Amino acid sequence: MTDPLPAPPAPRIVGAGPAAIARAAACLRSGGLVAFPTETVYGLGADATDDRAVARVFAAKGRPRFNPLIVHTASGAAAERLAAFDDRAERLADGFWPGPLTLVLTRRPECPVSPLASAGLDTVAVRVPGHPVAQALLARTGIPVAAPSANRSGEVSPTTAAHVRDSLGDRVPMILAGGRCPVGLESTVVDLSGPTMRILRPGAITATAIAAALGEPVAPPPPVAGAADAPASPGQLASHYAPRAQVRLDARQAEPGEALLTFGPDLRSGPMVLNLSETGDLAEAAANLFAHLRALDAGGPPSIAVVPIPDRGLGVAINDRLRRAAAPR
Ligand code: TXA
Ligand code: MG
Repeated sequence: MTDPLPAPPAPRIVGAGPAAIARAAACLRSGGLVAFPTETVYGLGADATDDRAVARVFAAKGRPRFNPLIVHTASGAAAERLAAFDDRAERLADGFWPGPLTLVLTRRPECPVSPLASAGLDTVAVRVPGHPVAQALLARTGIPVAAPSANRSGEVSPTTAAHVRDSLGDRVPMILAGGRCPVGLESTVVDLSGPTMRILRPGAITATAIAAALGEPVAPPPPVAGAADAPASPGQLASHYAPRAQVRLDARQAEPGEALLTFGPDLRSGPMVLNLSETGDLAEAAANLFAHLRALDAGGPPSIAVVPIPDRGLGVAINDRLRRAAAPR
């Protein structure tokens, strides 16, 4: 009889109390990786000013180096030390930070963020998250923290600490647990670095809310391109957020063997059926989307059929993620 191989060390999921946050902050300052909750999704954090720490993030995720990272700070003032804020950036920061909004801005000449985090571009994406654990961690570290979603590249983003562990395993030594992410979809990314403001990724801060804050219309996000097309912006690949199963959109019903992701009042139920929101609440649907996709995927169906989701408000961001999940790979 042979002994079973020893299991790799499990990543440590620790409740985000003050002592754990202090340890996580120290880990970040010494170049280590820490996964932590934000209001959108869990992030995989590293000291954004440390080239080697940032390189570890790309390696842990298996992320292509052309895809830049979002840099998180505790305050707008800290973000303003990294990037040049014009009038519109100021207004959006005042209106939506802390919160699920990322601004792509021109790097200041003295910006200490590793060029690797910006993928060599002269811009940097900055966000001040509102989640109390993220806030406490960022305040404690005092450094800008580069943090992509804490999943293997191309997978569905994590909205619980267990998702992070399932996706990254022992590639992340410490996971700060802070419950389920209340928004559940990645932040809205707005590019203010060029002559025309653009939404690069729709999210909980909608185009309507941004237009209202600025008093001017906002160009809609570029449509999800075919997988073979060049990305409209780095990282905006068509196939993304993909479960293992195929995803079939605008389904009226599930075919035999298919799992069903439904929305609104629906009498269908069963082990292969999950409802994003029985009351038809788009915020609840957004918060459930990635967890439900993961749960249905775990059953190993050939595909996941998804009913139509209204394309308004948060539904725009939900449909963006669903189209990417369904895009040819
Ligand atoms: O909600 C979120 O944004 C989460 C949490 C952890 O903050 N983070 C997140 O990071 O979703 P990630 O790396 O999964 O997505 C970042 C997106 C990518 O689409 C990337 O291409 C874009 O932001 N991005 C980052 N820096 C950019 C830049 N300088 N120019 C254009 N796009 C940029
Ligand atoms: Mg991601």
